[in-house]
Amino acid sequence: MFDIAAVRRDFPILSRTVHGHPLVYLDNGATTQLPRPVLEAVDEQYRLYQGNIHRGIHYLSERSTARVEHARRTVADFIGADPEEIVFTSGTTQSVNLAARAIADGLLKPGDAVVTTEMEHHSNLIPWQEACRHTGARLLVVHLTDSGELDMEELARHLEQRPKVLAVTCVSNVLGTVNPVEKLVRMGRDAGALVLLDGAQAVRHRPVDVHALDCDLFCFSGHKMMAPTGVGVLYGKRAVLESLPPVLFGGGMVDQVTCESATYGTLPFKFEAGTQNIAGILGLDAAIQYLRAVGLEDIFAREAELLAFTEARLAERADTELLGAPAQRAGAVSFNLRGIHCFDAAKLLDQLGVAVRSGHHCAQPLLARFGLTGAIRVTPAFYNTAEEIDALCRGLDRISALAASLG
Ligand code: ALA
Repeated sequence: MFDIAAVRRDFPILSRTVHGHPLVYLDNGATTQLPRPVLEAVDEQYRLYQGNIHRGIHYLSERSTARVEHARRTVADFIGADPEEIVFTSGTTQSVNLAARAIADGLLKPGDAVVTTEMEHHSNLIPWQEACRHTGARLLVVHLTDSGELDMEELARHLEQRPKVLAVTCVSNVLGTVNPVEKLVRMGRDAGALVLLDGAQAVRHRPVDVHALDCDLFCFSGHKMMAPTGVGVLYGKRAVLESLPPVLFGGGMVDQVTCESATYGTLPFKFEAGTQNIAGILGLDAAIQYLRAVGLEDIFAREAELLAFTEARLAERADTELLGAPAQRAGAVSFNLRGIHCFDAAKLLDQLGVAVRSGHHCAQPLLARFGLTGAIRVTPAFYNTAEEIDALCRGLDRISALAASLG
């Protein structure tokens, strides 16, 4: 296992105070903090090397192009893909939107079915609602069991309708439920559907090999894995990406253009119109290299251990109600303090330097399934410590005591 003190020193923000207290950052499901090598990669690009990619033949342009294509190879290697199958986007939301729009334009017909789930982040739900609205396709939703897992019997029934798409998250961003992705991919593909996996909450918690998984599309964000915001990835199987039309048009994605028409470039460029977030992409490359240097297996193990510790500490409290009880959680656990609104609790925690997310977590249907409109979510990362979870619990003690004193 790695040296936690050394790892924490890699993240400058972790040594700051907030409202006079040491920062306890437990909102990594929303966005993670950046280690020095990532900050340096971004800074170096802007200070010394900024040039547009695939456009100029001067030194800065060629150097930037080479670094971005290096990053594409790093990302491809990280998820078991080929570089041409990696499309850079601004994040998971753009990745899913891009895929849904291309599928709507190139594949869906009136009466077709698309299957998604009640567990999804809005970014893997609304794009499919819109794709169905534009094409006359039907959206079929898989609901959750009381423990916060997918109702696999309902999924099997929906798949009998031979949907064109199965779009599902690997890990719930609210409950942390780990979905049986291998089985989901197999079931979806056996039913003839393209399978899109939302990997935003998965990539830092478990190994991903998209070729071994055999999914068709896989989306994730850099900023949930120690890279900058504004950079993400849409992986698509080569044959799938080749079969789908581009949906964003402009510079960088074309072959020949006349005043009347255009032909489009090869993969992955036909999906990358406009100037990319070059420094962000280099930051993503640096983040993957950093995670590897720390040790992916150690990171996965430490995050699992911290989450289990957090869940146990919250479950033993009389004043908390946990959401769901899935067989396997990764990354996230959510709860409410009895009788206290989640925003009040999160604001009071913030006054103690403890950062957690509160509200609907961009997953309103999931919250509604539990009869709620909001919850507090704790999402530890490998740089967090058991002492920080203790600090969270001491904060909860104070909030409950305050609420009791107010009657
Ligand atoms: N998708 C991020 C979250 O779940 C923002 O918090």
